[in-house]
Amino acid sequence: MAVVLYKGMNWEGHPRRNRSRIDRKVSGRRHAGSKMHVRDKVFEPPPVDASFLHSPDDIFVPDPRRHNIGCKERPIRATTRGSQGASTIAAATPPTMPPVKGIRSTISSKNRSTLPNSLLKSSPGSYLSSTSSMSLSTESTLEDEEDHEISTTERGVWTDDRRILSTRGTLGHCSVKHALVYSFYVLHSISKRPSHLPPGPRPVPILGNWLQVGNDLSHRFLATLSQTYGSIFLLKLGSKTLTVVSDPELASQVLHTQGVEFGSRPRNVVFDIFTGNGQDMVFTVYGDHWRKMRRIMTLPFFTNKVVHQYSDMWEEEMGSVVDDLKREERVRKEGIVIRKRLQLMLYNIMYRMMFDTKFQSQDDPLFVEATRFNSERSRLAQSFEYNYGDFIPFLRPFLRGYLNRCRNLQRRRLAFFNNYFVEKRREIMAANGEKHKISCAIDHIIDAQMKGEISEENVLYIVENINVAAIETTLWSMEWAIAELVNHPMVQSKIRDEIKAVLKGNPVTESNLHELPYLQATVKETLRLHTPIPLLVPHMNLEEAKLGGYTIPRESKVVVNAWWLANNPAWWKNSDEFRPDRFLEEEQGTDAVAGGKVDFRFLPFGVGRRSCPGIILALPILGLVIAKLVSSFEMKAPSGVEKIDVSEKGGQFSLHIANHSTVVFNPIKA
Ligand code: HEM
Repeated sequence: MAVVLYKGMNWEGHPRRNRSRIDRKVSGRRHAGSKMHVRDKVFEPPPVDASFLHSPDDIFVPDPRRHNIGCKERPIRATTRGSQGASTIAAATPPTMPPVKGIRSTISSKNRSTLPNSLLKSSPGSYLSSTSSMSLSTESTLEDEEDHEISTTERGVWTDDRRILSTRGTLGHCSVKHALVYSFYVLHSISKRPSHLPPGPRPVPILGNWLQVGNDLSHRFLATLSQTYGSIFLLKLGSKTLTVVSDPELASQVLHTQGVEFGSRPRNVVFDIFTGNGQDMVFTVYGDHWRKMRRIMTLPFFTNKVVHQYSDMWEEEMGSVVDDLKREERVRKEGIVIRKRLQLMLYNIMYRMMFDTKFQSQDDPLFVEATRFNSERSRLAQSFEYNYGDFIPFLRPFLRGYLNRCRNLQRRRLAFFNNYFVEKRREIMAANGEKHKISCAIDHIIDAQMKGEISEENVLYIVENINVAAIETTLWSMEWAIAELVNHPMVQSKIRDEIKAVLKGNPVTESNLHELPYLQATVKETLRLHTPIPLLVPHMNLEEAKLGGYTIPRESKVVVNAWWLANNPAWWKNSDEFRPDRFLEEEQGTDAVAGGKVDFRFLPFGVGRRSCPGIILALPILGLVIAKLVSSFEMKAPSGVEKIDVSEKGGQFSLHIANHSTVVFNPIKA
């Protein structure tokens, strides 16, 4: 069903005479709240549940009459000039909003009775989107000029607003008290002015929605908000704008159709430190630097040739995990925290690919140091603790200690990578002179640096990115998979049976993984239920953009709630159940892919330009580990424990198991 977004009412609730150009543009476009078709499936908007709200006053529920849901509004811009430069005073009335049962429209009914009539009339539901309001002026933007086909009534409102803004000059005649009260009205009025921004809770000046939503913007919380505000909504977090997308069609817009527009990454005070202001690849803006880094990294890391070159080594590392588990008696009696051993295995896999070197054991001082540095980096970067200072610049001085800790860690960490690993490869390459042989990934990267394509710092940031993007994510997925397998012994048996039936006693290798659909379904089900990067790595639009008929202000952080896309009960049968069979039954043909035919409900690796290039390594590594463990052991919870705890712990964009599981590995007799 096509939905006309802004139907013929002006924002005062009167019928509009003309439809504006924007109106006509969006008419007939499919709307987020309507039924949509993705891969021949029909999605209904999820049912609305507002039970998470503490009180009805927590929520901005627009009253269609007073807030002109479905109305075209006049975009109004003013600028505030402060330390952040010019920023926009944008107005917001959501064009459409799902109805929320049982919650009355609360927006400013109190204010309504106290505000002067002239202000009441003018501008419902918008906000001041700047943290600094040193000087306030209207600014007719190009967009304003282009939008001149507005109705007479709208023009009238626009004029009213100009009048409101121009009254600043008369404040000198009033008492201070009146001036303050009046300023409040002015600010309030400006802060209520509508535009085409996506729906969302009503923000207050300076803080935006921060007090309402807090720091902890987890995938679950954002999914709950999407049930109230719809499949696209906007939060104003201090000086920053966060747009959240929770529906497959809009996800395809962000990641695919408008992949260039939304292909950048937002900056944040902590990530600026850990990426040297974007000298890396994962967090850099979409542009020449990113293109160059991605090209340079592809050859040594992300090709089929690399997979074939290293798969024997992966199997060797996995074989040594199996041997270690078989050797120790306590493993089959009390069990072990398997994460630690798998961590060593993954570090060895990635460090052998990167540097042609490995760690001897979990006690190897270099391994201890590397894991210490990386886990501290993850802790500091993933924490929600620093959000307040990131959102609200004038609170940043309170973050000084935190940011210094990040700087200090990053300095020592990069020096560690450089001194113990990168420099060693440089020495080996130098010793071989002109005809140096390229024998691992970092040799390729150093080669690119020696040709002047990238800097020495870029080399180190590539190492930093692999340490985080490759090792942590794959390790979390392994832990989830093992925990679910322990809790679902039937799934273990099915994998074993499949391997026996298909491979007839031959070992599982990278080259025969494709013959084992149930094993692959288990990997997919793990990534669906426990999406390791549930909101993907945040995207950003460098310029103002359109999405689902709404305007997305420039430099918005745009997140796709991949976890909700993969766990929304409206789209998945018994979505909270761990059931690999779904990928062989009703979801047959749904694959985790980074390109090609995509089901936008299932995006554990993202899709499009900024999708995960490591998918080519991660999927076979996960498949092989599960196959090796399941065919060698019966994995069980320790005695006295009925089920392994699979509760989760999230970060800025990570989702890992809250408690690292202790697992008993009972060797299977051949
Ligand atoms: C289970 C394991 C993994 C998962 C779930 C995963 C997931 C993701 C996701 C969701 C993104 C962001 C996509 C987006 O923003 O749209 C990403 C980006 C990235 N991943 Fe992975 N990843 C995994 C393993 C790996 C591995 C093994 C490597 C490297 C060896 C890797 C390297 C990267 C890089 C370099 C990026 C940044 C791409 C860019 O910004 O252009 N990942 N990954």
